[in-house]
Amino acid sequence: MADVFDLTIIGSGPGGYVAAIRAAQLGLKVAVVEKWATHGGTCLNIGCIPSKALLHASELFEEAGHGFKALGIDIPAPVLNLPQMMTHKTETVAANVGGVDYLFKKNKITTFQGIGTIAAPGKVRVTPQNGATTEIETKNIVIASGSVSANLPGIEVDEKKIVTSTGALNLDKVPGKLVVIGAGVIGLELGSVWARLGSQVTVVEYLDRILPGMDSEVARQFQRMLQKQGMEFKLSSKVSGVDKQDDGSLKVKVEPAKGGAAESLDADVVLVAIGRKPYTEGLGLDIVGVGLDERGRVRVDGHYKTSVDGIYAIGDVIAGPMLAHKAEDEGIAVAEILAGQAGHVNYAAIPSVVYTNPEVASVGKTEDELKAEGIEYKIGKFPFTANGRAKAMLATQGFVKILADVNTDRVLGAHIVGKNAGEMIHELVVLMEFSGAAEDLARSTHAHPTLSEAVREAALSLGDGAIHI
Ligand code: FAD
Ligand code: NAI
Repeated sequence: MADVFDLTIIGSGPGGYVAAIRAAQLGLKVAVVEKWATHGGTCLNIGCIPSKALLHASELFEEAGHGFKALGIDIPAPVLNLPQMMTHKTETVAANVGGVDYLFKKNKITTFQGIGTIAAPGKVRVTPQNGATTEIETKNIVIASGSVSANLPGIEVDEKKIVTSTGALNLDKVPGKLVVIGAGVIGLELGSVWARLGSQVTVVEYLDRILPGMDSEVARQFQRMLQKQGMEFKLSSKVSGVDKQDDGSLKVKVEPAKGGAAESLDADVVLVAIGRKPYTEGLGLDIVGVGLDERGRVRVDGHYKTSVDGIYAIGDVIAGPMLAHKAEDEGIAVAEILAGQAGHVNYAAIPSVVYTNPEVASVGKTEDELKAEGIEYKIGKFPFTANGRAKAMLATQGFVKILADVNTDRVLGAHIVGKNAGEMIHELVVLMEFSGAAEDLARSTHAHPTLSEAVREAALSLGDGAIHI
């Protein structure tokens, strides 16, 4: 008789592969079904990891070109070797997806390659690209099928000239002119990569601000920093069409969001980065009756259970921020729940980071949200211009902003723009996890000289005052 698994997971992204590992660690017999040739999902193959490889390399290229001189390092102008930069990216991806394979073997997780379809509760059919279909018997199923890029009606992506993030991570030459549609995380990260490598980048955004959802003061100041780096922004604007010219170039039609006269922008490449949508194709959800919400996401309860017993869902395919670490934490939680434990994710303390230079990092409430909710708050702020280590590193752009409850001093949110902001945010995540007060942070000794001292100084400024300003 064929094996019966305790748990079969469809999709091996950060949600699926982490759920598989934790479930196996807790003694469950686990299968993973993945339709791609490699494990790791969007994040490892075409998302977080390749983008960070290019962000790192392009940042160093930019620094070698413009930042070294002031530090007393005279070198000839750096020469871009784009094929080697792409090799670095490909090798980084290979090392990471190889790591997932190793962890699957180590934890005795059985893998199936092919499209997983839920034939019935307790049955997953696997259809490989070539070869025979297999049927898996399983006590429980976790859907971790992730998300795909949203498209713009009338603008056809070919991943060469009109690209999503996937094509933008794979261009074989630096576009002279890059038009980015959408000033969200993908647009700003990948726009930064190509701007650093020499593209003239124009970002067209529908709203009157960049990075919707982030603290608006942070977004405003960050936009100025990106403009200083040469990025141009057309806010409150929409792209209504892209025409391919005979010479291979593109004409992008841009209109005011509220209507009005259109203008035309020249481009060599257009990046469509207007968000991502949940991916549920091929899963057979309608056959088994798994319910979706109004935005096409799989509907789950507080324990990640769908409308059908024995079928669960996590990650980008359910509601919440589309972030790898959110998917991972839901993976751990669902595995713990299925193993009889009390799995839980604290959605109030999920950090979010934009990996540009400077970085933008945020956790908890924004000032805009606190205002809208009528919560009385106080603001502690500290600029990196007053931080010794930042001066030594010529990294004085940006600031730390901490929002705390006016009555209890409890930290409600924190926002950092600055070098390494994505590393610094975590002490605030831990503080919020323990419902800490700004004074707890202000009284914690921070090593000198570190950028993190700016975080403590922002907390000090909520009490008797910061020292170094
Ligand atoms: P996914 O990673 O999308 O994985 C889903 C997997 O399921 C895929 O491998 C897919 O092939 C498989 N699958 C789907 N349907 C089936 C089926 N029927 N049968 C078999 N297999 C199936 N997040 C961050 O936190 N930090 C970042 O720096 C970051 N950078 C990003 C950069 C880019 C360019 C992009 C596009 C995204 C980025 N993200 C980042 C978001 C992050 O990638 C996602 O939040 C994360 O991958 C979601 O994980 P998941 O497990 O839910 O789904
Ligand atoms: P996004 O939701 O972050 O930003 C999309 C932007 O496009 C928004 O500003 C929106 O107002 C704008 N927009 C929408 N329609 C438009 C239109 N027709 N014309 C002009 N602008 C329009 O989505 P993005 O950047 O595509 O990224 C998708 C998701 O991937 C993110 O939400 C994030 O969860 C994840 N991601 C996370 C990263 C990180 O954590 N560092 C990096 C990259 C992606």
